[in-house]
Amino acid sequence: MFNTTMPARVLINEVATRDGFQSEASFVPTDEKIALIDHLSQVGLNKIEVTSFVSPRAIPNLRDAEEVMQRITRNPQVCYTTLVPNEKGAERAMACNADEINLAMSVSETHNLANMRMTCEESLSQFKRICDLVAPSGMRINGSLATTFGCPFEGVLSADKVLTLIERYLEAGIQSISLCDTTGMAAPQQVYDLCTLVRSRFAHIELTLHLHNTRGMGLANVMAGLSAGINQFDASLGGIGGCPYAPGATGNICTEDLVHMLEANGLDTQVDLQQLIALAKQLPDLLGHDLPGQVAKAGLRTETRPVPASVEELRKSKATLAAAKPF
Ligand code: COA
Ligand code: ZN
Repeated sequence: MFNTTMPARVLINEVATRDGFQSEASFVPTDEKIALIDHLSQVGLNKIEVTSFVSPRAIPNLRDAEEVMQRITRNPQVCYTTLVPNEKGAERAMACNADEINLAMSVSETHNLANMRMTCEESLSQFKRICDLVAPSGMRINGSLATTFGCPFEGVLSADKVLTLIERYLEAGIQSISLCDTTGMAAPQQVYDLCTLVRSRFAHIELTLHLHNTRGMGLANVMAGLSAGINQFDASLGGIGGCPYAPGATGNICTEDLVHMLEANGLDTQVDLQQLIALAKQLPDLLGHDLPGQVAKAGLRTETRPVPASVEELRKSKATLAAAKPF
C-alpha cells in the first residue's frame, strides 16, 4: 500500500491542555492545568499547545488562557504554542510571549462558519493581517487546516482546495502547516496520498499531522503519514479532545499510545514513555471520567505478568507425568 521509508526521529506535540480541555464537560482548574503543563514540559515533547486565545464565550473552558501562559515554567527545549483564530487572539498571544501562534481555520466553509463564525476568506484576511502584525516579534506562525480529510457537514473535500489553502497560508506569511483530521474521517490510503501530494508540491515546508481516533483509524493513519515522510504528530494525553463545533467529534490520537507504537517500531521520539503514562494515569481523577487511551491501562507490550499458580501446578504435573511415561 505505502512504502517503508521512515524518518529518523519523530516529533511529538502535546495538545491535551488545548484540544483536550476545550471539550471537557467541566472547567479544569487553572492550577491543575499549570501543574500538568509543567510536568509535560519535562518528558521530552517537541511542542505543547498550551491553550487557545479564542472567545471565552465560544470556549469557556479556556477562559484562563493568559494566566496559564504566564504562570507555566517554560523549558527552553519545548515550543509553547497557542491556538489563535483572529487578530484579537494574536494580540493576546503576543502579550503572553508565546513561542508560536497556531492560526486555525477549516478547509470546509461550513465548518469554518460553525467553528469560527467566519467564511474561509474572512479567516484568510485576518491571517494576513496577523502575520504582518506578528512578523517583527519573531514569534513562529503555524497554520492549521481543520477538516483537511473530511467534514461532518460537507464530507470529503477536494485535495485541490487543500493545496490552494496551503498556498494562501504561505503567501500570508505562515511558516509551517498542520493538516488536521478534526473528526477522525481520514483513512490510511487517503492520508498517504494527500501527504505525498502536499510534500511533493511544498517540499521544504514543515508539516504536522493532527489526527483524531474517532473511527479507530488514528494510529493506522500515523503509519500512513510516516510512510509519506511526515515526522511530526499532534497527540493528546489519555486520548482526550475534540472540537465542540463538530458534531460527533471525539478524542485525538493518544500520546502515550502513539509513543508506545513508534518505539515498538524502532522509531526515536525522545519522549519518556514511563513518565507520560504516569501523567496519563492521573487524568481520570482530574477529569472525573475514564479515558480512551489504551497503553496506560494495558501496560507496555514488553511487560510480562506473573504466571498463575494453577498454570505452574499444571506444568509440574505434566512434567511429572511425562517423566513417568517415557516414549
Ligand atoms: N479572544 C477573546 N475574545 C474575543 C476574541 C478572542 N480572540 N475574538 C473575539 N472576542 C470577543 C469580542 O471581543 C466580542 O466580545 P464582546 O461581545 O464582549 O464585545 C465577542 O468575542 C464577539 O466578537 P466577534 O468578533 O463578533 O466574534 P464572533 O462572535 O463572530 O466569534 C470567534 C468569532 C473566532 C472569536 C469565535 O467564533 C471563536 O472564538 N471561535 C473559536 C472556536 C474554537 O476554539 N474551536 C475549537 C478549536 S478548532
Ligand atoms: Zn483536534
